[in-house]
Amino acid sequence: MSSRARRIAISMAASVMTLSLAACGVLNASESGDGASPAKGNDITVGLLLPEKENTRYELFDYPFFKAKVADLTRDQGEVKYANAESSAPRQAEQLQQMIDDKVDVIVLDAVDAKAIGDGVQKAKDAGIPVIAYDRLAEGPIDGYISFDNELVGEVQGRSLAEALGDKGEGSDKIVMMNGSPTDPNAKQFKAGALSELQGKVTIAQSFDTKDWKPEIAEANMAEAIEKIGKKNIAGVYSANDGMAGGVIKALEAAGVTDLPPVTGQDAELAAVQRIVTGEQYMSVYKSYPQEAEMAAEMAVARVQGRDIQFEALARDKVDSPTHKGIPAQLVPVVALTRDNIKETVVADGIYEVGDICTAKYAADCAQIKLD
Ligand code: BGC
Repeated sequence: MSSRARRIAISMAASVMTLSLAACGVLNASESGDGASPAKGNDITVGLLLPEKENTRYELFDYPFFKAKVADLTRDQGEVKYANAESSAPRQAEQLQQMIDDKVDVIVLDAVDAKAIGDGVQKAKDAGIPVIAYDRLAEGPIDGYISFDNELVGEVQGRSLAEALGDKGEGSDKIVMMNGSPTDPNAKQFKAGALSELQGKVTIAQSFDTKDWKPEIAEANMAEAIEKIGKKNIAGVYSANDGMAGGVIKALEAAGVTDLPPVTGQDAELAAVQRIVTGEQYMSVYKSYPQEAEMAAEMAVARVQGRDIQFEALARDKVDSPTHKGIPAQLVPVVALTRDNIKETVVADGIYEVGDICTAKYAADCAQIKLD
């Protein structure tokens, strides 16, 4: 089929679907989905619980994109109640309880500790409040899950590092693995994805899990690894995210390493993109925050408004948590971010303007990679 014919077929299919959805009444926001509870209109309250502030994504991207989308979907009538746990699981449990007490209509939850928050999720469910897990898969009876393909994130990181090291003979390169928080199920998936690409190609000389994903803990662990392995013997560092990559690079520089080994990351934090421009950091993983946050807002609003068919269309994948199987989910794809594709990723998506990245300090490097 020619691409034009395919486009026509798709647009016809879409209008047929619109007609039949209208006939069933599913496009009518006031129609109740399952009849269990009356569906709401636009005057709704959406609770958003995010885990921490040390990594910049939550306050800079997740919260603002989510809030704007809820406003857009509810003609500015919906309210977002936002709380950030600042890496404390007990604090997040309190914030969740507060939202239950405040009778919000739906909760979107990015867990500090996916297991510990399971009881709170059950309490919300008992109070008739649906919970959608955001980015990290919380335990307990959640209604849906929106995240990135987290195993793929790890694969992309591992593959990039293996490529950067080149094939010097099986296992001859020593690397350090700086993994994320053990209470975050994503960290386990990043690690598994990365190991699937690295095992057999390199020697993992030291591997750490990093409490609360804290950059300063990664920095201290890296200093310990340098001490043990020797600064000249570290061929590369797998860092699960950009915040920790910053800590790793600080430790390497403090030890007097001038020719930095390749260091991976994730999140496309501004400081990391700038380090990629200068070559201090090898790569990051760009995850489209607008896509994740806006999909989460759509899922939450569709759930509250009883638009079940739309909810199902937004969550066609299925995932299992340690407590629940077959959770409706959407997993958004990711891309490697290197010196070569800054314009096509974070700049094209409006995350940063070239001017944010290429300040005076970075002008020469930016010109070299034609980022201007
Ligand atoms: C997120 C990463 C983030 C990390 C630390 C993970 O669950 O997927 O994007 O860097 O937590 O907050």
